[in-house]
Amino acid sequence: MKQIRPIAFIAALFLSLLCQAQEMIRISTSDHEMVMAAYNAGPVHFVYWGEKVQGDAFPFQPGKNQPDTQDDITPRIYPSYGGRHYLTPALRLTHSDGVLTTDLVYAGHTVSVLDENRKETVISLKDRIYPVTVSVRFLAYQKENVIAQSVTLSHSEPSQVVVESIASSFIPFHADSYWLTHFNGTWAHEMQLEEERLTHGQKVIESKKGVRATQSENPSFILSLDGPLAEDSGEVYAGALAWSGNYRLVFELDETGRLGVTSGINPFASELILEPGKYLETPQMILSYSPAGAGQLSRNMHDWARRYGMTHGDVLHPVLLNSWEGAYFTFDEKTIIDMIDKAASAGVEMFVLDDGWFGNRHPRNGDNAGLGDWQVNRKKLPRGIDHLADHAVSKGMRFGIWIEPEMVNPDSDLAHKHPEWIVRSGEREVLTMRNQWLLDLTNPEVQDFIVKTFDEVLGQSDNISYVKWDANRHVDNVGSTYLPADRQSHFWYEYVRRLYDVYERIRAKHPDIMIQLCSSGGGRLDYGALKYHDEFWASDNTNALDRIYIQHSTNLLFPAIATGSHVSTSPNHQTDMLIPLKFRFDVAMGGRLGMELQPSSLVGEEYEFSCKAIAVYKDFVRPLVQLGDLYRLESPYSGTGWSSHMHVAKDKSEAVMFAYCMKYNGRTTFFSTRLKGLDPESVYKVEEINEGNVPSFPAGTLTSTGDYLMKVGLQLRIDKPFSSCVLKISKIPCSDSQ
Ligand code: DGJ
Repeated sequence: MKQIRPIAFIAALFLSLLCQAQEMIRISTSDHEMVMAAYNAGPVHFVYWGEKVQGDAFPFQPGKNQPDTQDDITPRIYPSYGGRHYLTPALRLTHSDGVLTTDLVYAGHTVSVLDENRKETVISLKDRIYPVTVSVRFLAYQKENVIAQSVTLSHSEPSQVVVESIASSFIPFHADSYWLTHFNGTWAHEMQLEEERLTHGQKVIESKKGVRATQSENPSFILSLDGPLAEDSGEVYAGALAWSGNYRLVFELDETGRLGVTSGINPFASELILEPGKYLETPQMILSYSPAGAGQLSRNMHDWARRYGMTHGDVLHPVLLNSWEGAYFTFDEKTIIDMIDKAASAGVEMFVLDDGWFGNRHPRNGDNAGLGDWQVNRKKLPRGIDHLADHAVSKGMRFGIWIEPEMVNPDSDLAHKHPEWIVRSGEREVLTMRNQWLLDLTNPEVQDFIVKTFDEVLGQSDNISYVKWDANRHVDNVGSTYLPADRQSHFWYEYVRRLYDVYERIRAKHPDIMIQLCSSGGGRLDYGALKYHDEFWASDNTNALDRIYIQHSTNLLFPAIATGSHVSTSPNHQTDMLIPLKFRFDVAMGGRLGMELQPSSLVGEEYEFSCKAIAVYKDFVRPLVQLGDLYRLESPYSGTGWSSHMHVAKDKSEAVMFAYCMKYNGRTTFFSTRLKGLDPESVYKVEEINEGNVPSFPAGTLTSTGDYLMKVGLQLRIDKPFSSCVLKISKIPCSDSQ
């Protein structure tokens, strides 16, 4: 048995009496709260994040101080490098005199009500010795149960301070076990869900790719405490970094049993020099909590995203035909006019002209030339873009166009004219990726060029209402001829900040234009960029089977309204897989429905089916998928071979349910599932829509209470691979149900 050492005991008692928190700072939303304990000119501890605690009393319980081994058992809100903090610090500075440590203490806080839904709390910290100020900002979105955290750093030291690392947030957790869900991937295989139980040490999720940074891992996670992630139970936390460049999320389980999660821009090769009087701002970390599993967490994030995290998240998005897989680079005016005509007759609402429409001296007939020369190719399209856009409008459609303004082919006028605009590492070879180079956005001339390009592309016709913004390479051999020699490491941070400036300028001028965030599909899927866009292209993989996984994972934290999801041809161009048209439609309807094929290939029954499916989506499915609440019924990752989810209207009057069979499970097995999110007392009618040749809902039409549907559930006949079912669930008015 260990001996209690009296001196240590008396010292600890004295300390705990002395160390009464000066103030408990409670940052709350409708249902959850974060609580910090601030000591006068002392530390600010992160005490709690979870369900809202009733009442005003929130006594602070001092930790088990172990002054010899550790700073304090209770973690700080924003740990800096120094003292006895041995874990990954949120902030690491080299002060102007070369001192490597920082010791932040409480310097006050403010609370401002921004409007009826947003409350901002800013906790100010300052170094005990150096004139360094850190403001930790928490923006609490009441209704959506989301808190966005960010940090601003400034100083008035005699000369520059080097910021070695600066995170957006540090969140400590204490539980028996920690289960991390994160999203791994590669091109055409993005957002693959992985879950693991964290053990002692570090788990790091990061990107060093600079541009198209989310193609390998997404800067987001879900953390489940005390057990694997469940849909409707368990304490779960989500984080999504709003940043479109290099990022790093560190999960560190220490010897106290505590997990610290440090999230922010990646400090790798990114020292930032901060001059006195200047400030540095981190991106926001978007955080949410649910005491009832992943389902509620997703609905929080979706509600937040539609209102604050994207553009035009409250209006229905059109069904579109994108020309890429139907025409690639090989088209002329007739090809496009024919595509528009056929799409219009099928009920498609927008035509988007993808890559290949520009470049004259270096025509864009493949991915090896023309990028950067944003003038219409007169050989392919002699009457210009306006002719196509006007034609689309005359057919009752809208018109959109593709650009990739951050990039340039070596084989282009732009590359010859402005070699100094290209990202390069001194005298080293400038490496190509997809035959292209990256423009140096840190250079104001490049920023102006991109804004001008956007204006000029739109200026080709008053009838362009949508732009697909692509970005098809990473950053390698980093370097800028614009940035001074001692600021080369600023490139990563500056690129993203200047990209956001460009987006701001474009959005200020073109608030109504729809903009798709593409980046090779899924390459820039983050809330930093999505804020300026109406939707994202989730993956270049349009194979419906793969899309079930990609969309499932994507929609854990990003909303279906923003998830571009297209029906493509069979065999699929990426996988060669043969999949029936109904299944392809049923999967694509789970997002913002579109088409990605040559519409003239749809003839006879396939054409009729497509027209019907598009009408069903527009009439009933679209408002529910795009603006309703998502409830997942069966995960494609469950291993059962089925996947199912539903979207319920906010007032619970209607819902649509999707179910997919992904593999053969034997003759006797069948799929049944309980519905979710309905009003138990209301009576609903359930019927199949978008039927194929064989009905998949054996009951035909069923009428029962929400309670029955949520307890007893429904049986479907989807037992062959690529069979699927879509159900319409509509509340019967009281008078009709009696
Ligand atoms: C990558 C995108 O993800 C595709 O949809 C298409 O736009 C091509 N680029 C065009 O080059």
